[in-house]
Amino acid sequence: MTDTPRRGRTSEPLLTVEGLGLSLPGTARPLLADVSLHIAPGEVVGLVGESGSGKSTTAKAALGLWPRGAEVSGSVRLGDTDVLALRGDDLRQHRSRTVAMVHQDPRAALNPVRRIGDFLLERLPGLPREQARARAAELLDAVGLPEPERRLRQRPHELSGGMLQRVVIAGALAAEPRLLLADEATSALDVTTQAEILALLRTLRAAHGLGLLFITHDLHLAAAYCDRVYVMYAGRVAESRTAKDLFAHPAHPYTRGLLACSPALGTPTAPRPVPGRPPSLADALPGCPFAPRCTEADAACTEWEPRALPLAEGGHAACRRLPESAALSGATERTTS
Ligand SMILES: Nc1ncnc2c1ncn2[C@@H]1O[C@H](COP(=O)(O)OP(=O)(O)OP(=O)(O)O)[C@@H](O)[C@H]1O
Ligand SMILES: [Mg+2]
Repeated sequence: MTDTPRRGRTSEPLLTVEGLGLSLPGTARPLLADVSLHIAPGEVVGLVGESGSGKSTTAKAALGLWPRGAEVSGSVRLGDTDVLALRGDDLRQHRSRTVAMVHQDPRAALNPVRRIGDFLLERLPGLPREQARARAAELLDAVGLPEPERRLRQRPHELSGGMLQRVVIAGALAAEPRLLLADEATSALDVTTQAEILALLRTLRAAHGLGLLFITHDLHLAAAYCDRVYVMYAGRVAESRTAKDLFAHPAHPYTRGLLACSPALGTPTAPRPVPGRPPSLADALPGCPFAPRCTEADAACTEWEPRALPLAEGGHAACRRLPESAALSGATERTTS
């Protein structure tokens, strides 16, 4: 699938994934197939989709991490460095200079018996201890934790979930990455803390040109927070658009289904679940992977090799039954039925 980075206003992409495929032996279909995405400096890019659609696998692949025994194809570049060509220490060093990842559960990232200061100091190698401590306190202050000096002496159980998530974000920012991969980083937080953390990330984006991959189940949050959004289904990108276009005129039936699952607050519509269940890796899913659950599919959809079709308003959708109004005239394959 092609989704070529736009040139012009932004500089070179921080992350460019092209045609990424990832297969494990013994599964009926790949974990990822033909995934392409890019993130420019200062851009907030959303990655949404049901559980098991491959969001975390995509983010980890951007770090050069995948399950043992996986067969990987396509390309992943951090800046102009080919991540798939790096190994061992070279990969770790390059990663630590450019990119950091924050996971959903901050407690999983923190050793319960060690102090917050130890966690942060480990992320500031090479600095004399006193300087590193001062920098750690500065980082806690930057993520909005009051009394940073006291926090450095505390252990994880003494802090709330929201405070811990701030600590983990402070740790991720210690190496001054250019790209932050936030995998459901705010999903477990109450809405007030979530709003504060999102505001903080927005500030960092404005101040340092931080690029952000924002993985979330919450489509409305993605709409409000992201510049562009990729919708994943069964290890593939179903649709990629600006957030505004995606939510105003979703092109792929799966995107429309996801939006119908969570109608916006204040709308009279009741939530309508996407029929059927998210597929497992044991489902081979020939043709369009969404066809078995798609109310608009016909027999030909199960034979159609999914690929990104350009949309008139910009972006792409992998659906052979795109309405005339959505498809870019003359550039897409059309259905005759
Ligand atoms: N290390 C692994 N070994 C085997 N299968 C894996 C591994 N990691 C992920 N998978 C499988 O790959 C698929 C995609 O998983 P992934 O964690 O990327 O989904 P996700 O979109 O992040 O889901 P969620 O929203 O639940 O976090 C799932 O079927 C999962 O079981
Ligand atoms: Mg995940």
